[in-house]
Amino acid sequence: MIGLRAIINKVGAYPLLIGMAFVWVSCMSAVPHLSKQQLDDAKSKHIDLEAGRRTYINNCSGCHELHTPAEFNKTQWMQIFPKMSQKAHLSISDSTEALAYLCAAAKPNEVQ
Ligand code: HEC
Repeated sequence: MIGLRAIINKVGAYPLLIGMAFVWVSCMSAVPHLSKQQLDDAKSKHIDLEAGRRTYINNCSGCHELHTPAEFNKTQWMQIFPKMSQKAHLSISDSTEALAYLCAAAKPNEVQ
């Protein structure tokens, strides 16, 4: 029995750590970072999608939980966003970046 407790202590900590890492990763991916390609494409149009993501996280969780961008398609975000942008008192440039982020991370529009 020598060292059994030590082994349990050691093994016991890993599932906990892995569990915490999983929760952390799955939370992060709900509001995902975008690919370098997407960031660069937007940058060439002077839109900073990472800043848009931050604006979204910082300004859109005051009244309700953050919605996952992939919950809606682009068309739906274009419909929902203006009202919410007003509620959050976003400036025009913050609005533009946050909406660009949401559209870039949105689920694909259904093919008609
Ligand atoms: C002042 C409070 C408030 C703020 C700030 C706010 N919302 Fe909302 N949001 C609401 C309320 C209330 C609803 C419920 C339905 C409605 O009013 O359309 C809602 C609903 C939503 C929905 C669900 C719409 C649907 O059709 O299911 C989305 C998505 C959303 N908000 C996104 C955002 C985004 C993006 C921002 C930041 C730009 C934001 N919200 C900031 C109050 C807020």
